[in-house]
Amino acid sequence: MILKTLKDFNFTGQKVLVRVDFNVPIKNGRITDDTRIRAALPTLEYILKQEGSSIILMSHLGRPKGKTPELTLKPVADYLGGLISRKVIMAPDVIGPEVEALAGNLKPGEVLVLENTRFYPEEEKNDPDFAAKLSRLGTLYVNDAFGTAHRAHASTEGVARLLPGCAGFLIEKECAFLDKVLENPAKPFVAIIGGAKVSTKIAVLESLLPKCSSLVIGGGMAYTFLKVQGRRVGNSLVEADFEGTAESLLKKAGELGVEILLPVDHLVASEFAESAKAEPVDSLDVPEGKTAMDIGPKTVQLIGSRIAQAKSLVWNGPLGVFEFPAFAGGTQRIAEFVAACPGITVVGGGDSVAAVNKFGLADKIDHVSTGGGASLEYLEGKALPGIVILKK
Ligand code: 3PG
Repeated sequence: MILKTLKDFNFTGQKVLVRVDFNVPIKNGRITDDTRIRAALPTLEYILKQEGSSIILMSHLGRPKGKTPELTLKPVADYLGGLISRKVIMAPDVIGPEVEALAGNLKPGEVLVLENTRFYPEEEKNDPDFAAKLSRLGTLYVNDAFGTAHRAHASTEGVARLLPGCAGFLIEKECAFLDKVLENPAKPFVAIIGGAKVSTKIAVLESLLPKCSSLVIGGGMAYTFLKVQGRRVGNSLVEADFEGTAESLLKKAGELGVEILLPVDHLVASEFAESAKAEPVDSLDVPEGKTAMDIGPKTVQLIGSRIAQAKSLVWNGPLGVFEFPAFAGGTQRIAEFVAACPGITVVGGGDSVAAVNKFGLADKIDHVSTGGGASLEYLEGKALPGIVILKK
């Protein structure tokens, strides 16, 4: 899809309404991960460098029900002020006369941060009147909120219908990398899909299956597949409703000649708990009464051998319960293999991104997506409303 981009517009003298995804983790008023804020800086700097331009910034934070003071964007505005050498003003609201006055009086080079757009239920309803009120604050619209592009909300989609606008550099970059693995990926193309549930990953498995050379299925969801292959899975997570789907996916892979890699050994535990003792199981079968919590060393080597050959690779979802240190090893080893992969590597999805960050490997990956749900839906082949509306 060809998008309208920043280079298609002249921002000189414009008041630019920019939607970013500054939905960042905050603990006790402190931002604990600023990746999404830093990722939007190239767009903000590009606009502000043009003579006489100013920015009115929109974002949501969390999932508030109405005006929730704990979910104010104030700490984010303060943080942004420390990152860019510009005056950053925090608005007291999202819309209304006070905000209109602040936007109207905004001087060239200044940034006005609106309050959390989700303080108004009209945002998520994509209410046209709310979108109109937002759009009147600026003269041009730029969307750089890749992480929220799968939501058809007033600030991500409604406003784009009312103001001339385009995608920012982050959306452009995210789409360029994700398209590299979706459209004619360099072969061998290895897709690694992990996570707890088949139900949340089936669409991405079906979308990637016909494109890849090897499809790795890991994490809790692997056990529904192992079960339909006749393996014993002990107490491991199985989604009975998805056994039929798993069976047809395996059949389709056979027809297409796509290799499916499932765990061949496991780390199991007697209970699903952080304190549980990790027990290695050198067998395809999981013993009675045990729950599989991570992949074993043979599986790591097997997946690693495919990663080492890959010319392109995409990874979404952890391979074990990596938030429990005793069961993080498999995901960490795979992250290390991905970091050393000679091909193009793209990691998307909240948990796998958290994993590469946790293991300090993010800078060795070609592209670490800023989107969780958005990158998953993109990989599923869905049209994201916040992006489609920006097409040329
Ligand atoms: C995210 O963190 O995935 C985005 O900011 C979207 O948030 P949401 O799932 O609450 O819409």
